[in-house]
Amino acid sequence: MDIKSVAAAAETLIRETGEFVKNERKSWQIADVKRKIDTSLVTAVDVASEQRLVAGLKKILPGSDVLAEEQHNTRPDNELLWIIDPIDGTTNFVHNLPLFCISVALMSKGKIIFGIVYEINNSECFRAHEGEEGAFLNGKRIYVSEAPKLKECLLATGFPSNGFDILEEYINIMRAFMQNTQGMRRLGTAALDLAYVACGRCDGFFEYRLKPWDVAAGAYIVIKAGGAVTTFSGGDDYIFGGEMLATNGVVHKETIEFMEKHKGK
Ligand code: IPD
Ligand code: CA
Repeated sequence: MDIKSVAAAAETLIRETGEFVKNERKSWQIADVKRKIDTSLVTAVDVASEQRLVAGLKKILPGSDVLAEEQHNTRPDNELLWIIDPIDGTTNFVHNLPLFCISVALMSKGKIIFGIVYEINNSECFRAHEGEEGAFLNGKRIYVSEAPKLKECLLATGFPSNGFDILEEYINIMRAFMQNTQGMRRLGTAALDLAYVACGRCDGFFEYRLKPWDVAAGAYIVIKAGGAVTTFSGGDDYIFGGEMLATNGVVHKETIEFMEKHKGK
């Protein structure tokens, strides 16, 4: 596989699909919104965006398969797997908050080798792929921040729409972060939270009950931009394991220890 041309073709498709989503939003009606079993929202635009991406990406890479949020959410057994969120930030989309994106990663034999997070309204394309050093925002190299200590960090997080069983622990951690960092942001799109860590706008991100399509591309871009990504306790299963901590790398150990220390109170 020529990953460079696959990445270029995928970027073109994702940008075009982003334009489609942006145009659809103009005529979009609130009556179009539905609740999924897990109580999160979905619209016909999520579904249409997914259909375009799935058809286009399979054409770009014959023999590949997809894992995608809306209509392809069972993981197929295929060595070449696209992991797709057709709109990350659907709740923002519904409420006309302008931050939502498309997230696409390519996994080969269990390893991510390509990722794009495309923020639709500002046309910001965060991208990285194997065989090219670093990560890029609209073609310009990006780097994680250099914040040396948690107290100098701006963190991003998300509030899960289900899985409230560990809410107590989560609130304990948030309370402690509020008092020991420069602040916290809840953008409403995990893929973009990660892209913002990759380019240094935020210094770290954590959330639980995430899905692979929320994080696969963003996590890869963070790593390629020089950051670190693990589970809350430092483990490797952050794409399919549902729990993610991403930082600039410098504060990673401090953050893991801080979360462990404060989760109980
Ligand atoms: C959601 C967003 C949100 C995060 C949720 C995700 P969706 O994805 O990434 O920021 O807090 O956990 O489910 O539903 O907008 O694709
Ligand atoms: Ca989504």
